[in-house]
Amino acid sequence: MENIAEALKRNHQTHLLDALNKLSGEGYEKLKKQIEGIDWDGLSVLIRDYVMKKPVTVIPADLAPASYFPLLPKDAEQEALYKRAFEKGVELIRTGKVAALTVAGGQGTRLGFDGPKGTYPITPVLHKTLFQYFAESLARVSEKYGCRIPWFIMTSELNDKATRDFFKSHAFFGLPEESVCFFTQGFMPAVDYSGKVLMSAPDSIALTPDGHGGTLLALRKWGCLDRMKALGVEYISYFQVDNPLVPVANPLLLGLHALENSEMSSIMLSKTNAFEKLGNFCVTGGKLQIIEYSDMPKELAERTTNGKLDFIAGSPAIHVISRTFIERLTAGGRLDLPWHRADKKVAYVDANGTEIKPESPNAVKLESFIFDALPLASATIILEADRKECFAPTKNATGVDSAESCRAMLCARDARRMGVAGIPVPRKEDGSPDCTVELSPRRIFDDADAVEFFRNHPVSAPERGACAAYE
Ligand code: UTP
Repeated sequence: MENIAEALKRNHQTHLLDALNKLSGEGYEKLKKQIEGIDWDGLSVLIRDYVMKKPVTVIPADLAPASYFPLLPKDAEQEALYKRAFEKGVELIRTGKVAALTVAGGQGTRLGFDGPKGTYPITPVLHKTLFQYFAESLARVSEKYGCRIPWFIMTSELNDKATRDFFKSHAFFGLPEESVCFFTQGFMPAVDYSGKVLMSAPDSIALTPDGHGGTLLALRKWGCLDRMKALGVEYISYFQVDNPLVPVANPLLLGLHALENSEMSSIMLSKTNAFEKLGNFCVTGGKLQIIEYSDMPKELAERTTNGKLDFIAGSPAIHVISRTFIERLTAGGRLDLPWHRADKKVAYVDANGTEIKPESPNAVKLESFIFDALPLASATIILEADRKECFAPTKNATGVDSAESCRAMLCARDARRMGVAGIPVPRKEDGSPDCTVELSPRRIFDDADAVEFFRNHPVSAPERGACAAYE
């Protein structure tokens, strides 16, 4: 108690001590435990550097665009490499060397949905949730390749219970329960603009998840790395919970990663314009780094050569990460990735215990990002992908990167696959499907699956305006 009091006084957070002294019993113990769990001296340094001033990202003078493997191989040699890599990737999946990792600890504030984002109904016809979609897809890949892909799901303390309960109440969507492993990420206190840590209730600090960069340490902390090792897993297929279009395991990326001895690999998309809200793959000092779109100087973002953006490579946050890389990074039980400041509306209780819901940002959340591990890797590769086949982020309820746009992209991808399988889908003048179709991820993982599925389940082409699911 003495030590807490001293630490709080030294770090100008005595309002927490006042709050603690008003409590007794369980509430007292809860808040005391939270206070004891925070490195107050370390937090003060972060508050000084990230809250009391806005950190400026220094753009290195040698910043250059990162090179990448193009979507279509550029010559016969590369074509042969892609073929070998694809086969290698399939072999890695087949032999149980691949685990899936979904980061689902975010708060999904922009979507405005009450509950873990993974429980959001996303598919256009059957309204399957994001978690169900991934679960079915993993079941199909496991079936297709005769293996069992373990699935690691990162939650935060704010949504862990709700996430676990959701899976339990849906019998893990048919997956073997032991192949799904939940682990929780770390947290950071939310801090107001005067540098004071906020309280979310009279007996609780306002804790926020520490960003997807927290994944790496959390994997170690919860024994997931050991579990992976025991299962023979060497490669982790990493994706975000809000992107159901992502292939849960990408044989080509996995194979290239392994053949090129990469420690962390990434999918890249060609940006549609200089200011598209994707992180930019850049190189500095010989190391790969992602510069956030908001930090990219205008003149660099707009620079072109022969009419093409120099910094064309945008990140959709899809990676393959070697287990041994994470083991190495977190060996000492800590990992110092840089922090990023996010200004957010954080509800809090004031000194009188009154709950305040701010209308505009009132606090800073500190987050670390997984892509800041890229410069720490001994080798990295980037592979270009077709966004129509892998990236439909669900960030907002409507508009750009919304549930709406995500549903349209899922439908468009499935309509294309039906075409490949010989079932033409009616189209509007702009080429988009003039009907709503949904293919079951439990049955269809890729184009080859679509061909086989419709060979075994012949159907007539959907009519204009139809709404049909194929299970
Ligand atoms: P976002 O950056 O979109 O954040 O997360 P968010 O919290 O989901 O949504 P907003 O910004 O509040 O609207 C991208 C991915 O990273 C995960 C999210 O769950 C999502 O899959 N994430 C983010 C975490 O797992 N933990 C975090 O602390 C932050």
